[in-house]
Amino acid sequence: MQRLDPPSVVGSLTLEQKVTLVAGADTWHTAAVEGLPVLRCSDGPAGVRGTSWSGPPSASFPCGTSLGATFDPELVEAVGQALGREARSKGAHILLAPTVNLHRTPIGGRNFECMSEDPTLTAHLASAYVRGVQSQRVAACIKHFVANDTEHERMTISSEVDARTLRELYLVPFEVSVLPVDEGGGDVRVVMSSYNRVNGVYAGEHQELLRTLLRDEWGFDGVVVSDWFGTQSTAAALEAGLDLEMPGPTRHRGERLMAAVRSGQVSEARLDESVTRLLELMRWCGLDDPDETWSTSETTDDAPETRALIRRAAISGTVLLRNDSPAPGTSPLLPLEAGEAGLRVALIGPNSERGQLQGGGSARVRASRPVPILGALRERGLDVRHHRGCVISRRLPVIRGRFEVEYTSGDGTSATVPIERTSLLWADRPADGIDISDFGCTISGQFAPDVSGTWEFGLMVVGSAVLRVNGAVVVDLSEPQTGSSFFGMGSPEVRATVELEAGSPCHVEVTYPVQRFEMLRGLRLGATPVVAADEVAQAAALAADADVAVVVVGTDDEWETEGEDRSTMDLPGRQDELIAAVVAANPNTVVVINAGSPVTMPWLEAVPSVMQIWFPGEECGNAVADMLTGVAEPGGRLPITVPRRLADTPAHLSHPGVHGRAHYGEGLFIGYRWYDAREIEPAFPFGHGLGYTTWAVTATSISGTLVGPESADSAEVGVTVTVEVTNTGSRPGSTVVQCYVESPPGLLRPLRELRGFARVHADPGHTATAQVWLPERAFSTWDSTRESWFVPTGAHHLHVGLSSRDLRVAGSVVR
Ligand code: BGC
Repeated sequence: MQRLDPPSVVGSLTLEQKVTLVAGADTWHTAAVEGLPVLRCSDGPAGVRGTSWSGPPSASFPCGTSLGATFDPELVEAVGQALGREARSKGAHILLAPTVNLHRTPIGGRNFECMSEDPTLTAHLASAYVRGVQSQRVAACIKHFVANDTEHERMTISSEVDARTLRELYLVPFEVSVLPVDEGGGDVRVVMSSYNRVNGVYAGEHQELLRTLLRDEWGFDGVVVSDWFGTQSTAAALEAGLDLEMPGPTRHRGERLMAAVRSGQVSEARLDESVTRLLELMRWCGLDDPDETWSTSETTDDAPETRALIRRAAISGTVLLRNDSPAPGTSPLLPLEAGEAGLRVALIGPNSERGQLQGGGSARVRASRPVPILGALRERGLDVRHHRGCVISRRLPVIRGRFEVEYTSGDGTSATVPIERTSLLWADRPADGIDISDFGCTISGQFAPDVSGTWEFGLMVVGSAVLRVNGAVVVDLSEPQTGSSFFGMGSPEVRATVELEAGSPCHVEVTYPVQRFEMLRGLRLGATPVVAADEVAQAAALAADADVAVVVVGTDDEWETEGEDRSTMDLPGRQDELIAAVVAANPNTVVVINAGSPVTMPWLEAVPSVMQIWFPGEECGNAVADMLTGVAEPGGRLPITVPRRLADTPAHLSHPGVHGRAHYGEGLFIGYRWYDAREIEPAFPFGHGLGYTTWAVTATSISGTLVGPESADSAEVGVTVTVEVTNTGSRPGSTVVQCYVESPPGLLRPLRELRGFARVHADPGHTATAQVWLPERAFSTWDSTRESWFVPTGAHHLHVGLSSRDLRVAGSVVR
């Protein structure tokens, strides 16, 4: 291939070729034009899935909240580099990551993908992530621009949010990621517009956001891609600067765009701009560079260093929330100490055997080498007994066996495909000759129950379907339902019971009539025997007979998933009851919370040690074993506030919204900004996290000025905060120095806001020095009337501490 010279290439292309270039060909590739390369995209953000849901496995990384909890841009940059390598192993030029929307409510379905409730923390980590990915010449695609913070009516909802709130909170991570690398940004190459509307206008055709702000004001010169099926128009989207419609085949471009250009509805100059930016991106990825090798086949970057990095990140992101002594006069329960007789551990909980590695939706990958918790603890030589205690599966387990899917296309073509699990996601052609947008099928096979008695079957589907067992209709979903499974496009799981006999095979058949759909679709059939035994009591008995109980509770990829918000912060199933029963049976109880977002903890006062591991990725077992046994210290700090109850939370009264509108009624007051302003005591404050040692802040100094040269953007204006912290405990460890700014009185403003932070490490008795640079922006406010930033005059107080509610020293700087 010849070196691309975008302006001259654009000049040589026909209108049809240009129109072809600005849309996808299929789910992951841009459309081909002779002589030009094709771009491949892949999700993101906690791994790189490649072009197929069932394709080659991928290294599974800690989720967004876990990365947020590291408060460690250097580590997140290394994670970005590893993801960049993984993207290259999948031949993906664009990684659809990171997700940088903010936690507006703790029940947002995709919170686990996002990093924090705080814009500054998200911005620092997201730009580090972007730098890492892009160091491999893979373009990062930051998403979703913007105010896409919950999943309710996600394709259409209008986020109603005022300009100042947008500027000071939701836009910040995007703005910083667009900045050049030498200004602390990421120089991100691709931005994904979100599904939602912002103040009534679809984000993918929002002139003010995409053109005036992103391009003209911030100077973004990369590509804007729509979220998948998120392009809503032909002319408006292109005119606003939405360069690429994904996925393909196109719905709004092609013939329609040709006609719009010909009729003058869209200027050809605008089209040329978009084509130029796509060609520039191809060049940036080196697709015209003979020294650059991009393969089209897909493998896994299965390197020991990648696994070691995943393990380190999972540990650095784990937040030790509480670590008390189980009885007066004893030392904290963690790390566990094995006496001479060894340690008998009762490992309990629905997530305790394997651990839940990831949340659900497009972020999911097929993990390369998942390390189970049970196996990892046994490998350490601990005497571990296990009981799941209860189940939390939101859906019944899929049936495994030999099944056949007989497909029929709308045009009568048929094909048969064998499957071994009754779970189907159709994102591409289901079989040779079968049209993805117009087909039906019959799934049938034999299934041999291993237990006699009552069995529950559950079906969920996009469209209509009917389940028959031994010829009798068990679930009739002839009337399609939506709003639940399959990214919100499918039905909830509809369940019914059947009496079955062990060993006597039954015939299962699902008929899915031929039906038309433009987007992806799926079908899932589960079945399980109805359990009568009291598993909670059984688990408590196991705990009573052990030296220590480790209870791994949490959610899974069906409770926390793209497409649906949670309806509550409570742990699903009988988990609260399980913890209470276990700690009553054995006070030496550690609770490990394996969830991507906060959960309510009604048992908190009774449990000495609690840690949150989020969704830690495929090294879960090793990371948990390292931390429990003290080989490693949990290093995380909360990137979110853990509220006591949902009713205390900022968006509680306005979420999810009415009549298609989500009013961001809490304005600037999300996360700790809310709890501080309302004087609400959270269960655990933002920034909190213990380790296995203790710290004292021993000295602070502030240098610099807020009165600089006339130019408001001057890079010299700002202050450096120098903080000394001493490790006062008996183990080496690390902590995070956090700098919060309190503005002069007189403005409606959060009490204090995180503006900078630094992670430090020290051996026992040693002192480490942290330096935190706070630029002028850290002291600025958005003036919506003048549409500009300004620094309020007066004294700005700086609070330095180890969490948003553990502020150790203060100083001030005057403007
Ligand atoms: C998600 C995006 C994702 C895209 C492609 C959409 O449903 O919102 O985050 O990158 O699908 O899978």
